[in-house]
Amino acid sequence: LRIFLSGPMGSGKSTLAKHVAKRFGLPHWDLDSVIEQRSGATVAGLFAARGEAEFRALEGAIVRELVAENARGVFALGGGTVLDPVLRRELLRRGVLVTLRADVAELARRVGSGAGRPLLAGQDVTARLRELTAARAAVYAECHATLDTNGRDLEQLAQAVMSLANDPPIVVPLGLRSYRVEVGSGIRSRVGERVSGCAKSERIVLVSDETVAPLWAGAIAALLRQGQRKVIEVVLPAGEEHKTLRSVERIWEAALDGQVDRGGAVVALGGGVIGDMAGFAASTLLRGVPVGQLPTTLLAMVDSSVGGKTGFDTRHGKNLVGTFHQPSFVLCDVEMLQTLPIEERRAGLAEVVKAAWIEGETAVSELERDREALLAGQTEATLRAIRMSIEMKARIVSEDERESDLRALLNLGHTVGHAIEAAEGYQGMRHGEAVALGMVAALRLSARLGRASQNDVERAVALLSGLGLPTNVGPYLHERVLSFIASDKKRGSERIAFVVPGAPGSVNLRSTPIPELLSLLTALEA
Ligand SMILES: NC(=O)c1ccc[n+]([C@@H]2O[C@H](COP(=O)([O-])OP(=O)(O)OC[C@H]3O[C@@H](n4cnc5c(N)ncnc54)[C@H](O)[C@@H]3O)[C@@H](O)[C@H]2O)c1
Repeated sequence: LRIFLSGPMGSGKSTLAKHVAKRFGLPHWDLDSVIEQRSGATVAGLFAARGEAEFRALEGAIVRELVAENARGVFALGGGTVLDPVLRRELLRRGVLVTLRADVAELARRVGSGAGRPLLAGQDVTARLRELTAARAAVYAECHATLDTNGRDLEQLAQAVMSLANDPPIVVPLGLRSYRVEVGSGIRSRVGERVSGCAKSERIVLVSDETVAPLWAGAIAALLRQGQRKVIEVVLPAGEEHKTLRSVERIWEAALDGQVDRGGAVVALGGGVIGDMAGFAASTLLRGVPVGQLPTTLLAMVDSSVGGKTGFDTRHGKNLVGTFHQPSFVLCDVEMLQTLPIEERRAGLAEVVKAAWIEGETAVSELERDREALLAGQTEATLRAIRMSIEMKARIVSEDERESDLRALLNLGHTVGHAIEAAEGYQGMRHGEAVALGMVAALRLSARLGRASQNDVERAVALLSGLGLPTNVGPYLHERVLSFIASDKKRGSERIAFVVPGAPGSVNLRSTPIPELLSLLTALEA
């Protein structure tokens, strides 16, 4: 349990760190004081003598050392510690990073003349603080939570920090578009609070489908109405075949009939189909309103609700029209999986296996151990699997939001999987089942290329089939499937960025000429 308190000068990091530490019996460090003790100079002196860059390097080295030596404690960071993106992401991974904020006038009151604060030296304190907080807004937004310290006493703030530390969300750090994914049991009850965090007006569009609506929409709408909100409910026909412009149009029309304004928001309640369309509708409605995701399938929890890809299908293929529109919040409530049919759970588990293979050995062995519990829908195992998958995806998305390279690794199993789905006319086979087959094809192909061992192939097959997923891909690698792969050439290119998995944690992209890929796959048919 490491708690990092960050925020501009005057936000109260040192005072709160001391209070949290005392209150909950934890050790604490004030980074500026540690730096001063170790260097024998004041922070202002170090700044003057060595310049900001050298100071930051020293600060980074010391904070890393403290973190390595102490698995628990409260750390009051410097106001600029999190400016270094690499260090910031490390802190996000290794503890709970909380940004403290206050109005500029309050910050100015707290820092007084600014004595001993090098970045304020000789300047108009209020103006400089305004400038600094504005310049650092995107950096401070990458945190587990922002706590407003205006008018709140230390005890209230300490309680808020501790409850966060006991149940931290997963952060998708994307500057001002950063958001948090919460995973838990019963946490749909937070939907009203989360909507209040992103919507400024009271009109909220709640989108679900005909299967999900009778099960869950009433309860969610009631939670939303508690805040005097007006809920505009849209219920669409269920299923991939309804992931169309027509359905999107129904969301737009209902929202506009219900007089949604730019302060409103869209809440997606459903599987990936609803999440993708509600996200698209939100990204275009009034030129963009926030969307919150309340995924109700395992697949949507572990994959589609996170990452900001939205869209719908056309007669030319799946997801060919869409936008990037990151959600403002994601609430994965495993209780909502209780009504999900077992086949849908299995399909979601295929994406969990994919995530684990990208993540590494620990994640894969955990799945092997949890196999029975996952199939039975046991809560703890399901929560672990969802968290692992989202943490992996969040890391990749934060480094490559728009899929220029790294994010393409998430397509493991999908080149062949999509082609099988297309060849089956999107009927009779679920996306997750096709991905399972695609993963086996990718592993067998990798083994041929010498990138995966026979043991890797056997392990993946055992895990997938143990989860009730199909693995016998040979019979699917027929002419029609191969021709879909050939036509999938990414808009004009003669090569496919094929995801080649090795052992768990070692997954790479291989730019492969289409004819070579087809002949490699044909050789697997036997
Ligand atoms: N945006 C992305 O990054 C991304 C990633 C992966 C997949 N996707 C998309 O996700 C879609 C697949 O998502 P999906 O598998 O969730 O399909 P889905 O949304 O069609 O849901 C599957 C079925 O389960 C029903 N259902 C949903 N929740 C339920 C519940 N709690 N209880 C009972 N029934 C429930 C639905 O009504 C539907 O019939 C595809 O369109 C795919 O393109 C998007």
